[in-house]
Amino acid sequence: MTRRAPDAPVFEELLTQRLTRRHLLQAGAAIAPMAMVGSALLTPAQASKTAQLGFKPIKGSKADAVVLPPGYTYDVLIRWGESLTSKVPDLDATKLDAGALLEPTAAEHQRNQFGTNCDAIHFFPLNGRSDHGVLCVNNEYTEDSLMFPGHPGFGGISGAVARAYVQKHPQVVPVAKAAQGVSVVEIKRERGRWRFVKDSRFNRRITADTPIDIGGPARGAALMKTKDDPNGERAFGTFANCAGGETPWGTYLTAEENIQDYFANLDQLKARKDVDPFIVEAHRRWRMWKAQSLYNWDIADRRFDLPTSPTEPFRFGWIVEIDPLDPTSTPVKRTALGRFAHEGASPVIAGNGRVAVYMGDDDKFEYVYKFISTNRFDPKNRAANRSLLDQGTLHVARFDASGKGQWLPLVFDPKGPLNAAAGFRNQADVLIKARMAAYLLGATPMDRPEDVEANPTTGRIYIACTRNENRTVEAGTITYGGREIDSAPNAANPRGQNNFGHIIEITEAGDDHTSLEFSWEVFLLAGDPSGGRLITDLSQVKSDSAYYAGYANAAELSPIGSPDNVGFDRAGNLWMVTDGSQPGGGNDGCWVTPTVGPNRGRLQQFMSGPVGCEVCGCQFSPDDETLFISIQHPGAGGSTASPRSHWPDGGTSQPRPSVIAIRKEDGGVVGS
Ligand code: FEO
Ligand code: CA
Ligand code: CA
Repeated sequence: MTRRAPDAPVFEELLTQRLTRRHLLQAGAAIAPMAMVGSALLTPAQASKTAQLGFKPIKGSKADAVVLPPGYTYDVLIRWGESLTSKVPDLDATKLDAGALLEPTAAEHQRNQFGTNCDAIHFFPLNGRSDHGVLCVNNEYTEDSLMFPGHPGFGGISGAVARAYVQKHPQVVPVAKAAQGVSVVEIKRERGRWRFVKDSRFNRRITADTPIDIGGPARGAALMKTKDDPNGERAFGTFANCAGGETPWGTYLTAEENIQDYFANLDQLKARKDVDPFIVEAHRRWRMWKAQSLYNWDIADRRFDLPTSPTEPFRFGWIVEIDPLDPTSTPVKRTALGRFAHEGASPVIAGNGRVAVYMGDDDKFEYVYKFISTNRFDPKNRAANRSLLDQGTLHVARFDASGKGQWLPLVFDPKGPLNAAAGFRNQADVLIKARMAAYLLGATPMDRPEDVEANPTTGRIYIACTRNENRTVEAGTITYGGREIDSAPNAANPRGQNNFGHIIEITEAGDDHTSLEFSWEVFLLAGDPSGGRLITDLSQVKSDSAYYAGYANAAELSPIGSPDNVGFDRAGNLWMVTDGSQPGGGNDGCWVTPTVGPNRGRLQQFMSGPVGCEVCGCQFSPDDETLFISIQHPGAGGSTASPRSHWPDGGTSQPRPSVIAIRKEDGGVVGS
């Protein structure tokens, strides 16, 4: 989601894959042996032969429609509010403005219906098939003005109006909690078209109240304990689920991102003498709300009131592992992967069998991380693999101007920088306060690092930095997230006033994903390549420059802004979807470029979404014949009384966040 500034100046800071695993993955007990990435890689010359794209690119669009190249079509696979079970009815979206979601049954129904504002998508094949599988989809947040009649939404109007609305209608809180989390749903392609399977045994909702185990070093830690969970071993729910990932052993990873917008009254907590100041400091670092929160959940659930439950936020901001094929399993928060505003998590099996997980922390001036497991992946032992993410070392990236970089370990050490004097009593503290630890280690503050994924053909890592309007053009410092930051451009974030974002490409030393050294380069500076803004020499960079991996012919390039989620087809082409701020003012959409060969950097637009939406997901079926995309918050900025979008059902209908399945009308590999 695009974070909105609160209406009142609540913060002082406001100044300012899928890899070879995907097509080798088989369902259930029939997990296929996983190829080690190191042995599956192609040379750039080999890879360029496979990276053929053959569609007619589209132009940016402002239409309230999904726009695709000629010869392509899409199915609406599932809409927000469609019931996963016959036990409850579908949401009747024609009755939203009449208060359908204020009814006493609304929350219970939503707990059994597809959640709203779909984000990450991952496809888990059943019996190795590309036309039948289980889809895990994140449901990131609620766009309250598009759900509840008269709700003022989050922008432009005083937050006091939203708070008064929730005080008058506290029943919106359980509905909103049920609309978030994760939806697990069986899907099938029959007679060419995709549909979801109602009443499948795999169908499941995980919401902001579902019990979730806490695994890894922070399990049982003092900061994880609450009145409701005095042992610090079980959290209640997951929410703000943004992007995700899938493991080589066939589980889903969901990333808890903007959790700070749900917790209220930091100033009241700060005033209390009996609260450990480190707790307050940690919440300040997360930019938690001084008074009322964005969503006002504290009105109906005191877990979200900081003075009542000072440690509750420490139980969120993690990567959560879910077994999509066992609907009775309890999800687990993997605390060894650190606590920050997780965009996603992309595991790769290194040549030595250890698992590296690449992750971004999506806020301005935050960092890029890599976890390396202690133990090795065992293709024959799925149960043993289930604890791989509990033991290992979290690292954070420092990008040096030389084009080299280092992964710095976040390890508690009484003799090192992460010790008691610095506010860390043990490894759990380091992981819970990973952002503070990364800062102390001198990690490079980035321009909102979102998806971080490895190319399945070359093993290179791609980091999407969405944008950062607070990056200063000249040398400077700003206070953001409770610490002073050097806000000047640096080699890995080379543009001041970075309105359109960029992509960094990493090559691990020795092509070893467990290496602690890497080389890196700028792959893309998003923006408008026309009008002389395209550069092929990064030493010439200015704030409005565009750079497409050195590709020199501006006429063959599509402008792009705000790259967010990335994905790869089997040929290793880099696909990306966007979150706001297009240079031409068009809607968000989907773009693709080869990463090797003569067309490296030749970026072309493949799809445009409806009005007001953000485009998320970007996940292929194993045969590359279907591209799954989430259309998140279509019609954002409107209301139930005045919809700005009528997608997907047209006419005068309310907009419905939905997952779509894009395919060629006559079949074949998408993009070819
Ligand atoms: Fe939820 Fe970083 O987008
Ligand atoms: Ca995102
Ligand atoms: Ca992705």
